[in-house]
Amino acid sequence: LVASMEQVEETYIMVKPDAVQRGLVGEIISRFEKKGFKLTGLKLFECPKELAEEHYKDLKSKSFFPKLIDYITSGPVVCMAWEGVGVVASARKLIGSTDPLQADPGTIRGDLAVQTGRNVVHGSDSPENGKREIALWFKEGELCQWTPAQAPWLR
Ligand code: TYD
Repeated sequence: LVASMEQVEETYIMVKPDAVQRGLVGEIISRFEKKGFKLTGLKLFECPKELAEEHYKDLKSKSFFPKLIDYITSGPVVCMAWEGVGVVASARKLIGSTDPLQADPGTIRGDLAVQTGRNVVHGSDSPENGKREIALWFKEGELCQWTPAQAPWLR
């Protein structure tokens, strides 16, 4: 059980409005599920503008910020919390580069997207932001702690 000595982390993953509209919700959830991470939170949600601005507050000075907020609030998103050893960096690898044209084939953005401003999915960029974003998007009682029956085969 080498993995048990490594860090169990949590990350916030969000299916963005374009992917919900395109019917890619199941496809995107599958990537993380098949990898072997544990889903601890899941909801379809219409994001208020203030929440989108708080989530992306580090990008407030960027020229694309207003468009980014319009995009994220343009329709429902799917909010997810995932848990696992090394899940933050691993999820970023599964997602691929911010610009989908630079993202490797096999990644979610590499396979499913073309534009940076329509890049189908979000993933936290550090364990600290994983915790911050899960606390931001989920209320107490919306998260579920459970033990997957197959856990010994994966860890
Ligand atoms: P960022 O945190 O840099 O990327 P990532 O989502 O890969 O962590 O940027 C957040 C989002 O902002 C990004 O997913 C898409 C949008 N964005 C733009 O619209 N234009 C840009 O030039 C950049 C860098 C990001």
